[in-house]
Amino acid sequence: MTNKPHVYVTRAIYPEAVDQLKTAADVEIWQEAYPPTKEFLLAKVPGVHALLTMLTDPIDAQVIAAGENLKVITQLAVGYDNIDLAAATRRGIPVGHTPGVLTETTADFAWALMMTAARRVGEAEREVRSGLWQPWGPDVLTGLDIYGKTLGIVGLGRIGKAMARRARGFDMRVLYHSLTRDLEAEEQLGVEFVTLERLLSQADFISLHLYFSPEARHLINRAAFEQMKPNAVLVNTARGAVVDPAALTWALQTHRIAAAGIDVFDPEPIPSDHPLRQLENVVITPHIASAGKETRQKMALMCVENILAGLQGAPIPYCANAQVYEPRGT
Ligand code: DGY
Repeated sequence: MTNKPHVYVTRAIYPEAVDQLKTAADVEIWQEAYPPTKEFLLAKVPGVHALLTMLTDPIDAQVIAAGENLKVITQLAVGYDNIDLAAATRRGIPVGHTPGVLTETTADFAWALMMTAARRVGEAEREVRSGLWQPWGPDVLTGLDIYGKTLGIVGLGRIGKAMARRARGFDMRVLYHSLTRDLEAEEQLGVEFVTLERLLSQADFISLHLYFSPEARHLINRAAFEQMKPNAVLVNTARGAVVDPAALTWALQTHRIAAAGIDVFDPEPIPSDHPLRQLENVVITPHIASAGKETRQKMALMCVENILAGLQGAPIPYCANAQVYEPRGT
């Protein structure tokens, strides 16, 4: 150990990012595939000046309070609902994240999930791999057409807008529901603001792109599924808890909706005996929507920028709680 600041990284990341951190700090890295426990973090953080976290780490008020030397926390993700932002802000600790860089990658993946679910790609592939290539037939593995249909986007942030741009190439009508109306997006992307109820009842494809907050928990519940069209396809690349897992299972088992493509679940990983895993009309991937190699490298480098600035006491460039830089009242 030197007298350089101590950076703790909770998973192995892009080596070049680690090398950059090492120019200014001693760097220690959790090497396991599973995340460190809260107990481990509580014991580790008192000696740490900067923490580079993943969305699977429980960075709650207790962990933040234990980090008596913490100058900056930064997360390798755009979402940070695993971090108690208010607790960090109270302590004056900036929390960084990686907005923007993963927008197109995530939208690409959401689009892939939508197409895979609609056109039964997973099911077809499973059949072929299991030795069953059915002869061509008019009704073999027929799915849902996408071109010209209606897409409903819940949450018109960066990724929601990237979905809307993709939808133009498919000549789709695009409805959106967000906390606030975005008149500029309406004009530029031709999207239509509607109530959530109208979106649920009119869209053929529903894609979730909202930030997770306690209010968003189980936004898509049984009542929401009951409003959807029977041919609806739900896509979730946001956070698992936005969708009630029991309601989703019911909607797919009873064919209340046609299909779903989900990259996130509550809990993650999905339990091995979960009934969803037996259904053909759902595509399930393990939270990889932003997992483009280059994207993940760029995300790691953004975290480095945040840490190097934070360790110097300078404003961090990608900050989720800019209030820490506002003058405090007396
Ligand atoms: C995020 O960034 O929040 C995604 O869920 C993982 O990249």
